[in-house]
Amino acid sequence: MRMVDIIERKREGHILTEQEIEFVISGYVSGNIPDYQVSAWLMAIYFQGMTDQEASFLTKSMLFSGDTIDLSKIIGIKVDKHSTGGVGDKTTLILGPLVASCGAKVAKLSGRGLGHTGGTLDKLESIDGCTINLSEDRFIEQVNQIGIAVAGQTGEIVPADKLLYALRDVTGTVPSIPLIASSIMSKKLASGADVICLDVKIGEGAFMKTLEDARELSRIMVSIGEAFNKKVIAFITGMDQPLGHAVGNRLEVKEAIEALSGNGPKDLETLCVEIASYMIFYAKKAPSLEDAKELAIRQLHNGEALAKFNEFIHAQGGQIDSLKDFIKVKKIIEYKATKTGYIKEIKALNIGLASMKLGGGRETKEDIIDPMVGIVLEKKVGEHVKTGDVLAKVYANSPVSKEIILSLDEAFDIVEFEVKVPAIILEIIS
Ligand code: URA
Repeated sequence: MRMVDIIERKREGHILTEQEIEFVISGYVSGNIPDYQVSAWLMAIYFQGMTDQEASFLTKSMLFSGDTIDLSKIIGIKVDKHSTGGVGDKTTLILGPLVASCGAKVAKLSGRGLGHTGGTLDKLESIDGCTINLSEDRFIEQVNQIGIAVAGQTGEIVPADKLLYALRDVTGTVPSIPLIASSIMSKKLASGADVICLDVKIGEGAFMKTLEDARELSRIMVSIGEAFNKKVIAFITGMDQPLGHAVGNRLEVKEAIEALSGNGPKDLETLCVEIASYMIFYAKKAPSLEDAKELAIRQLHNGEALAKFNEFIHAQGGQIDSLKDFIKVKKIIEYKATKTGYIKEIKALNIGLASMKLGGGRETKEDIIDPMVGIVLEKKVGEHVKTGDVLAKVYANSPVSKEIILSLDEAFDIVEFEVKVPAIILEIIS
């Protein structure tokens, strides 16, 4: 087989075989195929697309390019959830304990990426004493005992994705739907869950800009799941604004605890209850989706979900005595509206960037996160505000730069006409 022939075949719109795709991925990972040929191949895929079967073959080759996680020692159906990247997205902290409190098994191994805001691992580590470094034996024992564990990945999961993603990033081939689908699904399948819920965000700042593209991505990911005998459910959700009110690690933990006590923001609770009901139903812990939803709502209001969260944090060495002094920063600055009207949009990306500049996220791998800082939205899309009303509170431990204020200025779009509160879930594809 020659790489140039495979590039030409894709360029002409032919369907590649499993062997051809495996030849490219294994050749690239072993260093036998150079970047320039893989770049040309990626660009050919960008223009010609891939069939569902090609995308499944690509996922398979990527999946087996590195370590996979064996969860077979965990008794019961394992459920997992992944988001394509949201600001203020603390859903794992809520969904994990919520569905575990209903008897589903949550065994989550996460990687640590760069991001405007910290990831789930950073949020957990922001809790005093909480560790995400669990040995494999401890991880499995914890899931078997209490139904949930969340830890940092140790092995090399899907090295092909690291290489391909870096190349896509510099060759203009990131926005190819089959390439995104195989990138996400190879990592999710390597993590070993039986049921995978995917939160596919759309909007400015998200990978998917339109509902059509999000549908297509979701459809392919569900089909890849089928090829691997896994149940995949995709939730297409809007990103007109950050999820909930809090952005920043401890601030988000606090909001997650409030949501687990039945006092969370509406959009966050709606999203969590909907995703939880699918996880509970497919984990066979309720006879129907309706029953699963009722159960999820009940667990949020009867203290069971919160009790499971505390058990989980405690099992990983953490302790939260009270929320009263949980957030300690040098100053809290009120960011106010400079005009009267209705909030049309709160650009999540800008809020995320502002939080990162406060120290809440990482620009480079070496950056150390300040767990306390961040932004809390006082108003959300659809609300009417008057000049001088507080739109957000900025939690800071260092001077708040002009750049941060500019990022907030650009985030809030206030218009004269009334704005409808956007639906959080636009479609569910399974
Ligand atoms: N997220 C991923 O993991 N991969 C992509 O290609 C895009 C989003």
